[in-house]
Amino acid sequence: MDVITNVSEMQARVLSIKDRKESIGFVPTMGALHEGHVSLVRSARNENDELIVSIYLNPTQFDNKDDFDNYPHQLDKDIEIVEREDADVVFAPGTEEMYPEGFCTYVTQGKLIDSLCGRLRPGHFNGVTTIVTKLFNIIRPDRAYFGQKDYQQSIVIEKLVADLNMGVDVKVLPTVRGEDGLALSSRNKRLNPEERHSALCIYGSLLKAKSMFASNVKDSKEIIEEMTSIIKKAKHTRIDYISIVNANTLEDVSSINGKAVAAVAVWIGNTRLIDNLILE
Ligand code: PAF
Repeated sequence: MDVITNVSEMQARVLSIKDRKESIGFVPTMGALHEGHVSLVRSARNENDELIVSIYLNPTQFDNKDDFDNYPHQLDKDIEIVEREDADVVFAPGTEEMYPEGFCTYVTQGKLIDSLCGRLRPGHFNGVTTIVTKLFNIIRPDRAYFGQKDYQQSIVIEKLVADLNMGVDVKVLPTVRGEDGLALSSRNKRLNPEERHSALCIYGSLLKAKSMFASNVKDSKEIIEEMTSIIKKAKHTRIDYISIVNANTLEDVSSINGKAVAAVAVWIGNTRLIDNLILE
């Protein structure tokens, strides 16, 4: 496996893969890899000739300096994990490569970022769409893999690819959870044991939404009230949002008629976690 840190070297490698007419599977990450990333890497390995994983902590998608500064770093360990999964290349550029001096072009999106995390984290999704566009232009993947835990991100990227005719097949794979149900996230590493225990209220609230919906409760307000009370009962929690949205437009729905998503963002101490379940 090769570790490439330079954009032009990465582009040269991609050209040689394209010359051989081989397919490229791509898993973009910000590092601090866990089993959720590994599941993406395994699918990409199975479905493509060449597998490229990027590890780049993208500063432009952080709306909070503290979150960026405290994001876990473990590049050597990440490279070992990816190598074990039989990737061909790790692309790990520095910020001077991705945002060289004078960089001033950003990709922004309309409507889909007006709700959920987009509403509360100004600039976040413009950072995501910009870096994903750059990575797709450099790596020119046939297929790119994302996790359902970042539901809004996956919808935003699907739309980015469609609107800008990028011709990448975006694969969204199910959220990987710990045995206790907590969605795996790089940010979980920042929770102390008591906070980790409190964080279980997030999945608990989503399961409640699912069971209410299964017993024919369609009124979002009623479901959100129950979810709120579960989360408020847990220690160290502060709710950013609990929403039920249309699964495609991400607009709030007052009553669940088509495919919807229950989505939650909660601070557990100083760590903000998100999770969701599809209701259909
Ligand atoms: O989901 C992530 O880890 C990031 O948002 C991504 C897609 C790698 C872009 O930096």
